[in-house]
Amino acid sequence: MYTEKVLDHFSNPRNMGELEDANGVGMVGNAKCGDIMQMFIKVNDDGIIEDVSFKTFGCGAAIATSSMATELIKGKTVDEALQLSNSAVVEALEGLPPAKLHCSVLAEEAVKAAVENYRENLGKATV
Ligand code: FES
Repeated sequence: MYTEKVLDHFSNPRNMGELEDANGVGMVGNAKCGDIMQMFIKVNDDGIIEDVSFKTFGCGAAIATSSMATELIKGKTVDEALQLSNSAVVEALEGLPPAKLHCSVLAEEAVKAAVENYRENLGKATV
């Protein structure tokens, strides 16, 4: 029921852990299942996401989707990262069971929350 890609990202997650020099951190949760996802981004002066990592306290699909999301936004601009949809993450994983689609929504929201936090920090820095 899970694709090879999902199993691969679940058993061998990419970019897992905290990013010490992150300048954007987002945390989101799903009230129903109680899962929590944290996304860390390091954006350079050109607005490019140089580095990204995640920490997920949640189900296997949440771990796989957050891992894939980090791969999809690494090297992209923050604007491009904001365009990342949960369906793009699911597509990159070659599918998720319908009951697990909400886990991919968490990944999309975590990326958006990290970018928002980065922009807030940027605003504070220039005041
Ligand atoms: Fe809630 Fe997967 S079961 S994020």
